[in-house]
Amino acid sequence: MQRIGVIGGGTMGNGIAQVFIQNGYDVTLVDIRQDILDGAIGAIKANLERQVKKGIISADDVQVVLMRVHPSLKLEALSTCDVVVEAATEDPKIKLPLFAGLDSLCKQECVLASNTSSISITSIAGATKRQDRVIGMHFFNPVPVMSLVEVIRGLATSDATFHSTMELAKKLGKTPVTVNDYPGFVSNRVLMPMINEAIYCLMEGVAEREAIDTVMKLGMNHPMGPLALADFIGLDVCLHIMEVLHTQLGDDKYRPCPLLRKMVAAGHLGKKSGRGFYDYGK
Ligand code: NAI
Repeated sequence: MQRIGVIGGGTMGNGIAQVFIQNGYDVTLVDIRQDILDGAIGAIKANLERQVKKGIISADDVQVVLMRVHPSLKLEALSTCDVVVEAATEDPKIKLPLFAGLDSLCKQECVLASNTSSISITSIAGATKRQDRVIGMHFFNPVPVMSLVEVIRGLATSDATFHSTMELAKKLGKTPVTVNDYPGFVSNRVLMPMINEAIYCLMEGVAEREAIDTVMKLGMNHPMGPLALADFIGLDVCLHIMEVLHTQLGDDKYRPCPLLRKMVAAGHLGKKSGRGFYDYGK
């Protein structure tokens, strides 16, 4: 498993590409937008240069590592890859056709992994004729910093695919944890209802935003309060995941908080839009 494909050069894709090239793999990075590809290479370079300043790597290493990433606008560039990690936009209408396309152009033995936060791995695998070689590889943001990878087995994922994916995650210096294919997996099944409940506390006037975040930081030893974390993740992303939990598990305990819906409708999406539960200026 030496040649890696990464689809999507956004927040997650460029981080995933960076950890692969820093661990000696060759990466073909595919996106549909040239400006995103340029931005991804720029972000990786900036991260590597930060590591030079901290004395983690040498200035010569930056060029060597950057030579291992090959940006492309064409999905066909992935035809010789051993593993493809898909980190495209979170939308089944995008991911399912992408996997059908990958299935027809990638080598028979190539493993197709998805970084999806909430879409069923079994349904993604169903878009291919290689359901045994499809798996979830759920990295966390920022990828170069966060050590966890949730490895999600779809209904038909083979033991061989599972074991090779676990090994691959370890070779990246990550800690893989096995999870079965269920809405939200473990991470978002536990995290999102907590964030949603914090938003209910705010809406019902249980406490001010700073008080809610301080209780969770100092009382539970969380590095960030749930409202600040929601702003960091993106309120639209939080709402989307709560909707997935609500519809797919069918339990009203996952009902998205009306205040969360209101914030998203107003375009207050958190840090990325400049305003969420907190103000981030321009
Ligand atoms: P993003 O919006 O930053 O990047 C998505 C990229 O996919 C965009 O650059 C877009 O141009 C590209 N894209 C869309 N359709 C494509 C196609 N057909 N072919 C190639 N590229 C295509 O999104 P982000 O945040 O990086 O999320 C990507 C995936 O990672 C999603 O499935 C998301 O649920 C998951 N994820 C996100 C996390 C986060 O904190 N943002 C954390 C863990 C998982």
